[in-house]
Amino acid sequence: MTEIRFIEPGELSDYHDAIGHGFGHDPTDDEDQRAAFEAVNPVETSIAAFDRGHVVATFGSYDLDLTMPGGTTVPMAGTTHVTVHPTHRRRGILTEMMRLHLDQAREREQPVAGLWASEERIYGRFGYGPAAYGQELSLPAYTVTGAAPDPAITVHPLTRAEATKVLPPLYESRRPDVAGSLVRTDTWWEHRILLDPTSWRRGASAERQVMAERDGQPVGYLRFRLRPLDSWGEGETRVVELLAIDDDVRRALWHFATNVDLYRNVRWWNAPLDEPTLLEADRFRRVECRVMDSLWLRPLDIAPLLEARTYDRDGTVVLDVADRLGMAGGRFRLEVVGGSASVETTTDEPDVEISVGELGRLLLGGTSAVTLARAGLLAGSAAAVATLGDLVATRTPPHAPEVF
Ligand SMILES: CC(C)(COP(=O)(O)OP(=O)(O)OC[C@H]1O[C@@H](n2cnc3c(N)ncnc32)[C@H](O)[C@@H]1OP(=O)(O)O)[C@@H](O)C(=O)NCCC(=O)NCCS
Repeated sequence: MTEIRFIEPGELSDYHDAIGHGFGHDPTDDEDQRAAFEAVNPVETSIAAFDRGHVVATFGSYDLDLTMPGGTTVPMAGTTHVTVHPTHRRRGILTEMMRLHLDQAREREQPVAGLWASEERIYGRFGYGPAAYGQELSLPAYTVTGAAPDPAITVHPLTRAEATKVLPPLYESRRPDVAGSLVRTDTWWEHRILLDPTSWRRGASAERQVMAERDGQPVGYLRFRLRPLDSWGEGETRVVELLAIDDDVRRALWHFATNVDLYRNVRWWNAPLDEPTLLEADRFRRVECRVMDSLWLRPLDIAPLLEARTYDRDGTVVLDVADRLGMAGGRFRLEVVGGSASVETTTDEPDVEISVGELGRLLLGGTSAVTLARAGLLAGSAAAVATLGDLVATRTPPHAPEVF
């Protein structure tokens, strides 16, 4: 008989190991990495299935804060560590754990849950929709020629201790402009972002960090790894994160990344969709890009969620939101005046009928409502769909800079 429940503090270590087995890799015995896991994983939101004393399924939730368009944040249940062991698959264990997770998130007043999906077919049925996209870029260094970088901007290596001081305030200064990004607490920086265990390197070097400086002030950073590809030094610079407070700084950091001797290719696995360097590339056909879904969102409380973001246009639309799990659906009047929304439940005739997952897709402005309607994923008159599309559209696409 399989028992599914929230774990006790003494079970976190077994839970940790079971995640490794569920994803098909060996659990680490690195003490630092295990301690870091314990530092960021709340026991009270971790669910497991037990059978004959073994953990056979896992399901975690981080307490995160998601940046909405306009820069405000909402509490988000960060759905993670979803595994069901091969011996126990396809008998409803994921479904049961998901119900516990989403019910708990609602009790804890998290209006949204979010995740990165290992496979795109798993989460739509539970009301998640892909809200942000990224692109994997791979380019020969010579394609980024551009003008010489601004001599007022200099680039300097950082030790880990220096990075711990320099990176967080820079990140926080840019974060409100990036819908889809997460607030990073000191604990998150220490035990997630700058952790860098060997198993995360995938054949590349340890993570290195450089800082861009102007007038003695830090103005950007690059986190990267170097991966030698063959014995003749045709290596690859792998960008982990590039953050710049303006475009001159961005160019200076790209100049650095494309001028590491012996490393003639640059790869950035999760670049923002609107990365301007692509437009500046000299031989842009040599740049390879692959667009991929990044952050998925599952609305759990629609009114506070829609009210938390800002809007570039005013307008009113009545949404009929369907939720197969009976958690967040209903009919809502979204009225935007002066860029701020108020949302009330209503019995008025709906203008647009939409599922909760498709609404998740629209929340950060990552997909056009008109395109969703053309794909048959929402219904409404052309005028109503256009109104909704204009309301939720954002000037820049959302970007989720980190996997969790
Ligand atoms: C994905 C996984 C968690 C599913 O667990 P599970 O307990 O077998 O799922 P359930 O039995 O509750 O299935 C629920 C529904 O989802 C479907 N489903 C489950 N996994 C699926 C998959 N990988 N692709 C497509 N559909 C899937 C089931 O067919 C079922 O559909 P139904 O309700 O129409 O019958 C499990 O296969 C696993 O651990 N995979 C490896 C790790 C992984 O990919 N984790 C996800 C991390 S983001």
